[in-house]
Amino acid sequence: MSRKSGTERQKLEAARAKTVLLGVTGGIAAYKACEIVRRLAEHGLAVQVVMTETATRFISPLTLATLSERPVWTDEFPQGIGTPASAQDVIAHIDLAEQADVFLLAPATANTIAKIAHGIADNLLTSTAVAWQGPALVAPAMNHRMYENPVTQENLQTLSQLGYTEIEPEEGWLACGETGPGRLASIGRIVSSVLTAIQEREGRLSGKRVVVTAGGTREPLDPVRFISNASTGFLALKCASALAAQGAHVDLVCGTGVNPELQEEAPADVAHVKTAAEMKSAVEKKVESCDALLMLAAVADFAPAPATHKIKKDEHETLNLKLQRTEDILWSLRERHDLVKIGVSLETEDALARARAKLRDKGLDAIIAVDYRAEEAPYGDVSIRAAVLTGEGEHLPLELRAKTELAGEIAHLTAILLDNKERQR
Ligand SMILES: Cc1cc2nc3c(=O)[nH]c(=O)nc-3n(C[C@H](O)[C@H](O)[C@H](O)COP(=O)(O)O)c2cc1C
Repeated sequence: MSRKSGTERQKLEAARAKTVLLGVTGGIAAYKACEIVRRLAEHGLAVQVVMTETATRFISPLTLATLSERPVWTDEFPQGIGTPASAQDVIAHIDLAEQADVFLLAPATANTIAKIAHGIADNLLTSTAVAWQGPALVAPAMNHRMYENPVTQENLQTLSQLGYTEIEPEEGWLACGETGPGRLASIGRIVSSVLTAIQEREGRLSGKRVVVTAGGTREPLDPVRFISNASTGFLALKCASALAAQGAHVDLVCGTGVNPELQEEAPADVAHVKTAAEMKSAVEKKVESCDALLMLAAVADFAPAPATHKIKKDEHETLNLKLQRTEDILWSLRERHDLVKIGVSLETEDALARARAKLRDKGLDAIIAVDYRAEEAPYGDVSIRAAVLTGEGEHLPLELRAKTELAGEIAHLTAILLDNKERQR
């Protein structure tokens, strides 16, 4: 498979990118909009921010413009509107409503919720909301008495009837010093809801089901000890999000060591497992009805027969462990030619040659070859020395790559491989 030129790659990126219209209103949680913008951008989404005038009292448009790399719109009638001096389109509210793929109101004040529920269009954000026709999400954030007020509840009900999905606030400590429901939903839940809304729209992988495995496994030695590895599932979770952003339904089989916050962000159905044997049976069940399998978990190759009681240290001067080879999940699925299968090969020597051998022997469509160097620990949000190989050769050469960027490439390759498989049928 040939490598794409820079311009071709940019064109593909542009086609893939979706735009989120983020409406920020004037509540104490407005500062969290910064993190929302950053996290959405990490998923390759463009973010266009519109703020109410009150929101600008809590947080500067400059901060959000810097993070979103776009001007932030705040004013329906900016100075000089309609003259050549003005950068803003005269009908910005209509353009904004037409150019985005999903509308997210976060944080949403009781005031703006009430206005939109009643069709009031008295500022740029509410005018845009009234002109909006696509998928819409509302994440309220306010004092619990404001949230529980029947008027607010009725307004949220109206928004729901208008097609808005509420990302419900959480219970907990509120900025006013009280506790109760009203704290803005976690950023992970907000990002996941946006990705799900995009997934439900037409995407390149729309209608496809992909199983992704993440994290490590734990093989018990006795009831209190285990053998494991340091996998965090970071690359797998980023792949899950990138696949979902292209419309795939993702089934995540989550092993051990995975950061729960990151996992919450991945828009996927999640099954939790601990051992290699549990991972195998969960994957076997999931792949029955799926189109692709990304086997990215670091599954133990060897497992002990666990002792039924805790091994006592005073009974052993040295302890010899007898380990049994676990069953290789991808090898066991080598006859599933209908399935796109992508694996990982992490090696401390001969990374490319060993990955090529595994690609061939296990009948994979692609493999991510990771060249492990002691000084470049490959765990978590770091760059890894990796290549991506397919049956046709080097899809991406071996070089240091940020995992988020690599995840985007893997999701893109999955779409290509699925298209190829479809054509072969
Ligand atoms: C310090 C402070 C914090 C506020 N926090 C909230 C809040 O979290 N949620 C809310 O609905 N209103 C909050 N308000 C009230 C809103 O700012 C007020 O209703 C305003 O009109 C909202 O304008 P907007 O909806 O156009 O942004 C707060 C007001 C102040 C002074």
